Amino acid sequence: MSSQPEPHILFRREEIEATVKRLAAEIKQDYQGKHPLLLGILKGSFMFMADLIRLLNFPLEVEFIRLSSYRGSRESSGRIKVVQGLRSPVKGRDVLVIEDIVDTGLTISFLLDYLWKRKPASLKLCALTDKPSRRQVPVTINYLGVTVPNKFIVGYGIDWDEQFRNLPDICVLEAKD
Ligand code: PRP
Repeated sequence: MSSQPEPHILFRREEIEATVKRLAAEIKQDYQGKHPLLLGILKGSFMFMADLIRLLNFPLEVEFIRLSSYRGSRESSGRIKVVQGLRSPVKGRDVLVIEDIVDTGLTISFLLDYLWKRKPASLKLCALTDKPSRRQVPVTINYLGVTVPNKFIVGYGIDWDEQFRNLPDICVLEAKD
């Protein structure tokens, strides 16, 4: 991208809200009464997590882990690092991972392996967006919001070089003419 990129709306905030509501209904049906641990991957999932849990009116716990795969550019390094680890034990817990986007799948497969080693009672994945055209490793998404095209996505928590996380809509980043 030669010039400064600018965001164009792909999913408006109203569509995001409806999608989050649908996901919350699906999650509620499966997890009500189970006291699950909802585990968000920072930083990208913070906004999705905040909206989702407000719709889940049953006992649950919230935890975050901070992973990093992109290094200040739009291309994945392919190396995943735990930048801030778990503070809650996952052994015996019903763990639901909350992710903003599954792209190559490298981040989430790293995390699922990391979590399975800690012996949760169950482990599932909820992803707001999925970019299957970029997948390098297979990933099962148990609760999926929307599929996105093979373009650079920003907004609603998702960044480009730490920018645009604050956009309330999910946008495609395109070169300015
Ligand atoms: C982004 C996003 C996912 C991951 C998906 O995180 O939030 O966690 O990349 O990419 P992948 O499927 O190709 O691994 P990033 O590492 O950019 O950190 P961030 O959440 O702090 O933005």
